[in-house]
Amino acid sequence: MTGAPTERRTQVAIIGAGPAGLFLAQLLHRHGVHSVVLEARDRGYVEARIRAGVLEQGTVELLHQLGAGDRLARESLRENSFELRLDGERHLVDVLALSGVPMTVYGQQEIVKDLIALRLDRQGEPLLFDAPVTAIDGATTDRPSVVYRHAGQSHTLHADAVVAADGFHGVGRQAIPGAALRTYQREFPYAWLGVMAEVAPSSEHVIYSRHAEGLGMLSPRSATLSRLYLQVDPGATRAQWPDARIWEHLHRRLATDDGWTLREGPIVEFSVAPIRAFVAEPMRQGRLFLAGDAAHIVPPTGAKGLNLAVRDVQVLASALAALVRHHDDRLVERYSEQCLRHVWWAQYFSCWLTRLVHASDDPVEQHLAHAELRTVVDSLAARTLLAENYVGSHRAVAPVAS
Ligand code: FAD
Ligand code: PHB
Repeated sequence: MTGAPTERRTQVAIIGAGPAGLFLAQLLHRHGVHSVVLEARDRGYVEARIRAGVLEQGTVELLHQLGAGDRLARESLRENSFELRLDGERHLVDVLALSGVPMTVYGQQEIVKDLIALRLDRQGEPLLFDAPVTAIDGATTDRPSVVYRHAGQSHTLHADAVVAADGFHGVGRQAIPGAALRTYQREFPYAWLGVMAEVAPSSEHVIYSRHAEGLGMLSPRSATLSRLYLQVDPGATRAQWPDARIWEHLHRRLATDDGWTLREGPIVEFSVAPIRAFVAEPMRQGRLFLAGDAAHIVPPTGAKGLNLAVRDVQVLASALAALVRHHDDRLVERYSEQCLRHVWWAQYFSCWLTRLVHASDDPVEQHLAHAELRTVVDSLAARTLLAENYVGSHRAVAPVAS
């Protein structure tokens, strides 16, 4: 099907229907601000893309406030602890008891489905699939626009502001000249091989197991689905990792000395994700704003990426509402600085936990990380700090007044 090229206008053009773009569209809707969401892929692809699972309480509460929390209330898992395994021993980190904050497991793709249904089926607001953005113009003017392809034609969308919520490989960040952006990047020398298996989880909580051959992980996703991860070489392929080898490594790396066993089931999804830390500063050029993975990537070990994306757009929605409704740019001026403080905290925590539970080729590093993890499991103070960082609760403590 081909249509005629169009020129249309909205208040905020949002590139990407991942968590960042979809949450932002809802938050703007609440502020009475119109937006159009443009997504490069089709709806089926976006709704099936398996990634995050662990949600901070703030993310859960926001979904409820937006009116998209019904299925989450019915289907999510309450996990108030996680397990660290070291030398075959199991150590429970009772997150709720240590931090006072619960944890929730609900797949990112389920959130994406719920937010898409809310926008299209209940609100009838514009969200276009198969609509890749190819160019962003006028970012430093008051009249930015995006060019996108849809139904075989090139179209232009004019807006008061453009938000690139288009992930790490999107066009938004690349549209900002290199001289206007400072980037920080660390590539870790390993990747995560992730599988979804149709089997009842062998544990009721997330397990991170440090093993000489590399991290082994289990994350329960539902009564019948288990998500499992292995630390592998960055170039790992499906051909190198047939099912039997995956299970063999999972059994070995998750093994305990108390008879715990891992249940196997059919593997229905396989992926390999690089492990990297990345930050782009500032998260804005003029009227073009970066949000979520477009601006920053944290290693997935701390389960922070989606939660960070949600936090960005909470800050951004209020700022954009002030800009487009009241021509007040004070909040957008502070957007990047306000988010980056939190981003660097999440980066620190995610890199720290990554180092603790992954194996290293460097024998000194191998011993140091092992000793540090031993300290964490043996010390109540260290476990409390870990729990507070995992749920993000320590930020609630106010600085001492002078
Ligand atoms: P994305 O989800 O990448 O969405 C961007 C969207 O933009 C995509 O739909 C893409 O198709 C679209 N797009 C790209 N280019 C264009 C274009 N030119 N035009 C239009 N659309 C475009 N985080 C957690 O909080 N907890 C976890 O437990 C967790 N586990 C993880 C496990 C793994 C293995 C991985 C890889 C990540 C994990 N994360 C986790 C991180 C989390 O998945 C990401 O941080 C999250 O997806 C970021 O959302 P986003 O909307 O910014 O980007
Ligand atoms: C997941 O369920 O996919 C998951 C859980 C914990 C992590 C990362 C990913 O740290």
